[in-house]
Amino acid sequence: MAKFGGKHTPRKYVFLFAVVALLGIVLVADFLWASSSPSSSSFSRYWSTTSVSSLDNVIGVGSAKGKQTKGKLNSDKAKISKYLNATFADLPAPQLEWEEMAEAPVPRLDGAAIQIENLLYVFAGYGTIDYVHSHVDIYNFSDNTWGGRFDMPKEMANSHLGMATDGRYIYAVTGQFGPQCRGPTNRNFVLDTETKVWHELPPLPVPRYAPATQLWRGRLHVMGGSKEDRHEPGLEHWSLAVKDGKALEKEWQNEISIPRGGPHRACVVANDKLYVIGGQEGDFMAKPGSPIFKCSRRHEVVYGDVYMLDDGIQWKQLTPMPKPDSHIEFAWVILNNSIIIVGGTTEKHPITKKMVLVGEVFQFHLDTLTWSVIGRMPFRIKTTLVGFWDGWLYFTSGQRDRGPDDPSPKKVVGCMWRTKLRL
Ligand SMILES: *[C@@H]1O[C@H](CO)[C@@H](O)[C@H](O)[C@H]1NC(C)=O
Ligand SMILES: *[C@@H]1O[C@H](CO)[C@@H](O)[C@H](O)[C@H]1NC(C)=O
Ligand SMILES: *[C@@H]1O[C@H](CO)[C@@H](O)[C@H](O)[C@H]1NC(C)=O
Repeated sequence: MAKFGGKHTPRKYVFLFAVVALLGIVLVADFLWASSSPSSSSFSRYWSTTSVSSLDNVIGVGSAKGKQTKGKLNSDKAKISKYLNATFADLPAPQLEWEEMAEAPVPRLDGAAIQIENLLYVFAGYGTIDYVHSHVDIYNFSDNTWGGRFDMPKEMANSHLGMATDGRYIYAVTGQFGPQCRGPTNRNFVLDTETKVWHELPPLPVPRYAPATQLWRGRLHVMGGSKEDRHEPGLEHWSLAVKDGKALEKEWQNEISIPRGGPHRACVVANDKLYVIGGQEGDFMAKPGSPIFKCSRRHEVVYGDVYMLDDGIQWKQLTPMPKPDSHIEFAWVILNNSIIIVGGTTEKHPITKKMVLVGEVFQFHLDTLTWSVIGRMPFRIKTTLVGFWDGWLYFTSGQRDRGPDDPSPKKVVGCMWRTKLRL
């Protein structure tokens, strides 16, 4: 650690000052450069006219300055289209044979899902941007039917939940309460899947959107996510001792914070290690002053970072995903000493600035800590809900792409697909 004081201090301060001054010059230069380049106006477009009306990625350009930018954008586009096209982010992947199964009773975006044996419990989610679900649907992998609908507590979040199971109890923490880009709740619940009875758990110190959540060594861990404004990444990490659906403590304990925050990550415990995979910094926010908390797009950075905790003290960073991937919190299964991750969203298209969905199936090998791309989905989709039963990999719900040539998001779906997986 740097020591302050001592006889060399003045010289040190001079040096420090020089470094700070240099940094300042670089920053100012960077700012001037940015404000004279089109990239800054495309950034400001997030802050001005862009809003989501139908969960689509509409990019509105209103002002005269915006129109100029658009003209510039089009010529850039023509120039660069040789190198970048609609499918630019797709990775080479083997074809898998997919079979369409029974559609879920309702479409869902940003829902949650937990598999227990042959049942996939599917919770909450947006039906449309103005309507959210507050119930559970169950898919039975044995007879491939939907059924068993029951209600969630009405105080429970409707999207962006953290969720984990011990095989009987399902722990559901925090998340967004209500449609559009409304505020979060810090209330937490636990479901006994045998009796379908819900109980409340101690609230989180502060609410989060889509935090990484998992049960590890007898404690329910909650970390990262977005803070109360829905945009700023949270780094905090808390845990609560739980057993058989009951909290053994009155309050959440502080744990080692995660090096990188943000929502929509896969959080997996395998071989007694805690993994946090992918995610993003930033998210849509409520438009200031909007009475319906209308969602408007903000700057987002998607990443493929992989963090692992094995001692509870220090995070280790492992090989990142083959590409940045977010919206994968319920899009994974553990299979044959590997983690399979399905779909998601990657970095926005550099030219169109549209959101780009992911259509690959990834495998993270827990022995070698390396990644492979093991297949392609029937289409690209985000916030999909995944299960595995009897040799079949299933996914249902989420928001899918506009078609093979347009990876930007369009329809919120409830369809269910499966493929026979051989690793
Ligand atoms: C678009 O890009 C992909 C990946 O780089 C490439 O395989 C494909 O041929 C390109 N398509 C067109 C029409 O240029
Ligand atoms: C799931 O389907 C199997 C096969 O039809 C059936 O035996 C079982 O009772 C079903 N489970 C539930 C919870 O409905
Ligand atoms: C997992 O490994 C077992 C044993 O090697 C094998 O029989 C099985 O097919 C594998 N599962 C998948 C999905 O490939």
